[in-house]
Amino acid sequence: MEGEGECSDNPFTSVMTLTKMRVPHVPQRYVLPPSQRPTLTLDLTTTLPIVDLSTLHHASQRSLTLDTIQGACKELGFFQVVNHGIPLPVIHDALAAATEFFNLSLEEKMTLLSDNVHNPVRYGTSLNHASDKVHYWRDFIKHYSHPISDWIHLWPSNPPSYKDKMGNYAKAVQVLHKQLMEAILETLGLNFGNLQKEIEEGNQLMAINCYPACPEPDLTLGMPPHSDYGTLTVLLQSGPGLQLQDNKKKWLSVPFVEGALLVQLGDQIEVMSNGQYKSVVHQVTLSAENKRLSIASLHSLPINKKIGPAPELVDEQHPVSYNEFSFRDFLDYISSNDIADKRFIDSIKKSV
Ligand code: OGA
Ligand code: NI
Repeated sequence: MEGEGECSDNPFTSVMTLTKMRVPHVPQRYVLPPSQRPTLTLDLTTTLPIVDLSTLHHASQRSLTLDTIQGACKELGFFQVVNHGIPLPVIHDALAAATEFFNLSLEEKMTLLSDNVHNPVRYGTSLNHASDKVHYWRDFIKHYSHPISDWIHLWPSNPPSYKDKMGNYAKAVQVLHKQLMEAILETLGLNFGNLQKEIEEGNQLMAINCYPACPEPDLTLGMPPHSDYGTLTVLLQSGPGLQLQDNKKKWLSVPFVEGALLVQLGDQIEVMSNGQYKSVVHQVTLSAENKRLSIASLHSLPINKKIGPAPELVDEQHPVSYNEFSFRDFLDYISSNDIADKRFIDSIKKSV
């Protein structure tokens, strides 16, 4: 069942394959050291912010909503959105296309297999099956998505409806990202117009993730703790599983809200805000009963654009705290570093 022709210490095995084989235990390479294993009980004492985006269009409610967004960005780097303008059928179609893709034969999916993080379309498992020391219980397909006409011909041609369904969702999320950026830059007192063109011409990478039911969910993770590199990630999930770290480093489980989308601040916003806002550290836990799908749309400014702290947010009390970086710098970093060991953003923080 394993991939052929791969020259690597780590042969390719998808977790969908392991699940189909009904392995009674997770193979050793998925077992995390005890200190890194998750706590799976839900903490019901914390409520996470939910923002009704329709209120941004009403002059009388806009400033209150911006306050809520600002509070969420400062405290957690995370909020959920409802009334976000993406119709439920578009969301359901995108998840259906993802389900059908992962149900294809391994042979068919392997035509897109790649461990090269610079490839614009690639199928894989774990973070990077070729180099991971510990493996994570995740299969994925990632593809660049904006502008869609540059990339869609490279997307999976099976299932036949994939391009249409995922494409509709991708275009809608790109519009939503722009609206969210406009609001978030306003809460920082930054001029959206200065960045509008680069936001419109920015990169959109969709990571479609599949976390099959796992026989021992207390021993392993779907993804290790990390923050996303970009401006914002808009995440669609089919069920619960995401956990995020609050500012006291406590793990919180994100409740599942049908039709809601999750917004996570990435490293580019942390850097632009000169540390006023923090990118959110998150991880994915697994379930013994249910498969979970997620579609993470990771947005960033154009691939070669270097981002540093906004000059408006730098003064004597708030000196420049980060070196500049581009999405390409991040890709180069992850080709030779394990983000499960050291966060990228820690490599660009200026020492004081
Ligand atoms: C990611 C990610 C979370 C999830 O793809 O970067 O964090 O719930 N995904 O799949
Ligand atoms: Ni992430």
